[in-house]
Amino acid sequence: MNKENRIHNAALRSKVMSATEAASLIQSGMNVGMSGFTGSGYPKAVPSALAKHIMDANLNGKRFKIGVWTGASTAPELDGALAMVDGIEMRLPYQSDPTCRKRINAGEMEYIDIHLSHVAQFVWFGFLGKLDVAVVEVAGILEDGRLIPSSSIGNNKTWLDQADKVILEVNSWQSAQLEGMHDIWYGTQLPPNRQPIPLVRSSDRIGEPYLRCDPEKVIAVVETHAPDRNSAFAPPDENSKKIAGHILEFLQHEVKKGRLPRELLPLQSGVGNIANAVMAGLNEGPFENLTAYTEVLQDGMLEMLKSGKLASASATAFSLSNQALAELNADLAKYRERIILRPQEISNHPEVIRRLGIIAMNGLIEADIYGNVNSTHVMGSKIMNGIGGSGDFARNAYLSIFMTPSQAKGGAISCIVPMASHVDHTEHDVQVLVTEQGLADLRGLSPKQRAKVIIENCAHPNFKPALSDYYKRALEFSPGKQTPHLLEEVFGWHLRALRGERM
Ligand code: COA
Repeated sequence: MNKENRIHNAALRSKVMSATEAASLIQSGMNVGMSGFTGSGYPKAVPSALAKHIMDANLNGKRFKIGVWTGASTAPELDGALAMVDGIEMRLPYQSDPTCRKRINAGEMEYIDIHLSHVAQFVWFGFLGKLDVAVVEVAGILEDGRLIPSSSIGNNKTWLDQADKVILEVNSWQSAQLEGMHDIWYGTQLPPNRQPIPLVRSSDRIGEPYLRCDPEKVIAVVETHAPDRNSAFAPPDENSKKIAGHILEFLQHEVKKGRLPRELLPLQSGVGNIANAVMAGLNEGPFENLTAYTEVLQDGMLEMLKSGKLASASATAFSLSNQALAELNADLAKYRERIILRPQEISNHPEVIRRLGIIAMNGLIEADIYGNVNSTHVMGSKIMNGIGGSGDFARNAYLSIFMTPSQAKGGAISCIVPMASHVDHTEHDVQVLVTEQGLADLRGLSPKQRAKVIIENCAHPNFKPALSDYYKRALEFSPGKQTPHLLEEVFGWHLRALRGERM
């Protein structure tokens, strides 16, 4: 293990201990703010040591559970390890770990799904209770005690400020070249004293490259040398390529109409393979000098930075496959000026998103014929991941685009349904809906006009006749109503799926 010295502050160096010793300082019942946003910048050693500690306590008949607050999803060494030993009482604000998901849906773990931009301020407001401990990965510690952030920022600034005690993991695997890439703004205030956030271009730097932390609060420093862990992206399939094609055509049309500049507006791209495929499409498309103001920087965006299509990217975390991460780390100095990592309260801030005029592109589980979108709950009840930043962006974007394959589970389920079984984004925040079948531009359309366009352009041919029939009968049943529905049968679609039948 190559552990170069990254701790240049003598007082903090004197607090170095093992992960097991550090984990033993966390007590059952505590709320713990962990770093981490997707598989980046999460603590690699203390959570696993804590999981072992919890398992030992359980074997001795003691209940040991903590509250786990993060930036967003993390990795198996954090969410997976703690969920495996049933050590999480309350999880927030976003997860995508299979064991967590199973425990949440089995009623064994409480979960609050919060807009990512809300988390920091909710902690400052005192809405979520007391934050006892922060466990934060950093890439190094300066002589004066300031911290070089790691490969994600997430809520680290808030955790370090608000927690009573701090445990630092100093990970020498993280590239030393990360220094200077981050932009931490310390100008946030509580209402009524808030000031405008002075960010007017997506590439602006408004803060400082280091995190501050009162050294008196630091109770342990743990040295690690462990890689981030993100999953690989699937190569774009036919459906993703078609979705990307529809979006590209639409953006070109908007430029032609004069509603978008030639270099577009800053792009936000959600999580997952489809979002990544759209970036691949843009990389081959006609647009130049693009910018991104987004949450995570995935492989597709790195490719665009490499090709020069993307001039700059602002995010709160890297979310790269191992291969892309290796490429980035090998050449990080080259990208340092063009990539900015910010706290998620800024990367996802409604004020900034509205000012910059973002083009938001996010995935969904189901959309209904009137344009309401469910991003989180399968069959209305079972959590998939969480809303993440999709609401922060969709509600405030210049253009809010949602995309999905038209069918799921081998064609058994239609992703276009009469009524969404759970709503994360209302019809008011959904301007464009895209499936591999086509694109529905919902701007300026009433609910009844929207229903026709969504069924016609987005539904799979296997489900189009049934959706058209539903809509026709809903119109007959409630002539003239603003949003016609047949309440007695509207969730029959989901009930059939729950019985294992085709929707
Ligand atoms: N009913 C049941 N399952 C469905 C479904 C539906 N209507 N639509 C999709 N699914 C399932 C898929 O079958 C797949 O399941 P699997 O993992 O068992 O194969 C899973 O949901 C993911 O779907 P996929 O089509 O691969 O899309 P994706 O990777 O783009 O993910 C979301 C889609 C909605 C789950 C994902 O975008 C998400 O979590 N969004 C919310 C957060 C967000 O938007 N963040 C970005 C903000 S910056």
